[in-house]
Amino acid sequence: MLDEVVEAVAPRPGGCYVDCTFGRGGHTRALLDRIEPAGRVLAIDRDPQAVEAARELARSDPRVSAHHARFGEIGDIVSAAGLTGRVDGMLMDLGVSSPQLDEPGRGFSFLHDGPLDMRMDPGAGVSAAEWLADASEQEIGRILRELGEERAARRIARAVAAERGRGTPVESTRRLAAIVASVVRRGGTRARVHPATRTFQAMRMHVNDELGELERGLAAAPHLLVPGGRLVVLSFHSLEDRIVKRFMRGDDAVPAYPRRLPLVDGRRCAGAMTPVASARRPREGEVAANPRSRSAVLRVAERSR
Ligand SMILES: C[S@@+](CC[C@H](N)C(=O)[O-])C[C@H]1O[C@@H](n2cnc3c(N)ncnc32)[C@H](O)[C@@H]1O
Repeated sequence: MLDEVVEAVAPRPGGCYVDCTFGRGGHTRALLDRIEPAGRVLAIDRDPQAVEAARELARSDPRVSAHHARFGEIGDIVSAAGLTGRVDGMLMDLGVSSPQLDEPGRGFSFLHDGPLDMRMDPGAGVSAAEWLADASEQEIGRILRELGEERAARRIARAVAAERGRGTPVESTRRLAAIVASVVRRGGTRARVHPATRTFQAMRMHVNDELGELERGLAAAPHLLVPGGRLVVLSFHSLEDRIVKRFMRGDDAVPAYPRRLPLVDGRRCAGAMTPVASARRPREGEVAANPRSRSAVLRVAERSR
C-alpha cells in the first residue's frame, strides 16, 4: 500500500514529516521524492539496525535526520528539533520489518531456528526467552489469549511450564514452535497457517509493549502536528486497529484511555483529531502479491483546526 500511504500523508513541497517507523526507509524515500529541497523528514526507529540504515540515508540527504527512539519518545525528538506543533505529517507503519523477520538471529520467526529474542531493540528490555523463563503459567496463557487470540493458550502455557519443569528452558524459536505444534492441531481453513503463528505474534507484541507504545505515540500526535497535519497509521492487528480507530474518532468510551491523554489547547485529545475518509484495506491483487498485507488497515486523521 506504499502509494496509498504516501497519498494519505499528502506531502507538500517544503513540508516537515515524521516517519515513526523507518524500517528500511521505503516510506521515507517516497516522501523525499515529494517534498523538494526545502522539506524535511525525521526518520525514527527503535531498531538500531534500522537507525543505521536511516543514518546512511541521512549522510547522503541533508533533508533526513535519523533518531533511535520508541513511539513514546517521539515528542522529545520533535521538541528537540524545535518542531512541536509544526509537523505536517506523521506516519506509523506498525509491526515488524522484513529484515527483522528474515534474520534468524533476531528470533522473530518460527521459520528459522534462532535465539528466542524478538526485541525490536535488542539493547533494551527482556528477550522473549527471558520472559518465558520468568512468567507464570497463568501470565503466559493470558498474553497468548489476549494478544494472540489463541484458543489453545492455556494448553500451550501448560506445555511451556512442563518443559521448564524438566529443567529445559525454552530458548530457541524452533523449540518454542515445536512445543506449540505438539499441543495445537490446526484443521480446516486454518490448516495452512503454522500452529505457532499466534503464539509468536502475541509474544512479540508483549516483549515490545507494542500496544502501549502505540497509545503513547498516538497521544503525542495532536501536540506535534500543525492544525490540519496528517496522522497516517497502517496496522496489522485487530487490537492495534481498534486503538487507532478509537483514538482518531476521539471515542470517549475507551476505558481509562482519554483520562491518560495529555491536554491540547486546554482540551483532552479526544476530538483533537478528525478522521479523514474511512479505513482502507489492500486490494485483492496486492494481498496475492504480498500476503503480509492481508490484515493491513490504513487509517488517516487530521489534527483538528
Ligand atoms: C513494518 S516496519 C516499517 C517499514 C518501513 N515503512 C519501510 O518502508 O521500510 C516497522 C518498523 O517500525 C519499527 N517500530 C515498531 N514499533 C516501534 C516503536 N514503538 N517505536 C519505534 N519504532 C518502532 C520496527 O523496528 C520496524 O523497523
